[in-house]
Order: sequence, then C-alpha cells, then structure tokens
Amino acid sequence: MDKKIIAPSLLAADFANLQRDIEMVNHSEADWHHIDIMDGVFVPNISFGMPVLKAIAAHATKTLDVHLMIVDPDRYIKTFADLGANNLTVHYEACPHLHRTLQAIKDEGMAAGVALNPHTNINVLEDVISDIDLVCIMSVNPGFGGQSFIENTYEKIKALKELIQRKSAHTLIEVDGGVTSKNAKDLIDAGADVLVAGSFIFRSKDPEQTIHELKKMVG
Ligand code: DX5
Ligand code: ZN
Repeated sequence: MDKKIIAPSLLAADFANLQRDIEMVNHSEADWHHIDIMDGVFVPNISFGMPVLKAIAAHATKTLDVHLMIVDPDRYIKTFADLGANNLTVHYEACPHLHRTLQAIKDEGMAAGVALNPHTNINVLEDVISDIDLVCIMSVNPGFGGQSFIENTYEKIKALKELIQRKSAHTLIEVDGGVTSKNAKDLIDAGADVLVAGSFIFRSKDPEQTIHELKKMVG
C-alpha cells in the first residue's frame, strides 16, 4: 500500500474539549482517530471506557482505530463493534486464543489488529499473520502518552515486514508511541504503514499544521 496513514491518538487530546479536538482531526489531513482503551489491569493506567467512546464516535468522521489495552478483550468485542469501532486491536499478551479472538473481531465486521509489547518478538505471529489486518508495534510500554521512543522498534518493523512478505499477507504495520517528526520518515522507510502520534500532535502549537507536516513527511 502506498498511502501512509497518520492516526492522532486522542489520549493526548484535551478531554475538557474533546469535541473540539475530534473536529480538528476531522478537518485535518489525518486518516484515522486512534483511541486508547485502558483497564488499569493490563496496563497501570485507566483512560476511558464505553460512554466516552460513544461520545467520540458521535463526532468523529474518520476510521475509528480502537486499541484495547485490557485483559480478556473477547468479552467486549461486540460492544466495541456496536459503538462504531472500525479497527479493533487486541494485545497478543492478553489473548491465549488469539486466532479465535481475531475471528470474532472479523465476524463483527471490524478489521482485526494485534498489538505487541516492546518485549514480544514478532515471530509469535508467524502462524497467524495472514489472519491479521493490522499489527501494532508498541514503540513504548503501553499505558501512557509522552514516553520516549524505543529504538529497537526499527528492527521489529523490518522483521515483521519480512514475515508479511514471506507469507504473502496484506497486514498493515502500525507504530504506536513516541512518534515525532524526528523518527516518522525513518519508520516509514523501515516498513511502517500507519503512524500513531499523541503528544507530538496535541501538545504542539498548531495540531492541524503538525498533522499536515507529518503527512507531508511520510508521503
Ligand atoms: C500508549 C498508547 C498510545 C499513546 C501514544 O499506551 O497506546 O497510543 O497515546 O502517545 P504518544 O504519541 O504521546 O507516545
Ligand atoms: Zn495506542
């Protein structure tokens, strides 16, 4: 795929002005809304849950890319589909029956994503890669925005790209955590298709312009 995707992470938005920030993404050149759901168990933080996602979905006009950082995500697959999620990403580390989980996500009409923590080798996806629409390589430990990028991510992207090509799969590679204008181009060159960026966009002076610049940079 040639068009690269920019997905602003709403975790870094101003929650007291969520509608304003969602509309900024709507008007911008961004492609997806990235939405982080945390349960305080899988990760040491709690973000927001279903009522807030419902409010977001009422205003968002682009693909809802929902990243679940929760244990036992199978319990909520239908709920997230009903709330309007287009992509549903679960963590490899939270899914003992990953193949079944992926099928359940697709049965609900969503694209199925799998996120890997920084310590999880991409080889664990060898037997299931053709069933995955999107792999989210975590380039920070999940749970918080604003952390620094882990450099080993480049090697993981390259290895994952090689696996995808070897298996003739059509999986997109997403990178999540510590993405800035400093590493965006290198991540794309390494093989990434989707860049998630939270703090870098929402903490900038002009978030819409920052999205424009990221988009220009990744082509
Ligand atoms: C972290 C989340 C990320 C986070 C990225 O657990 O999955 O999506 O919002 O934030 P930045 O871009 O600030 O690292
Ligand atoms: Zn995320």
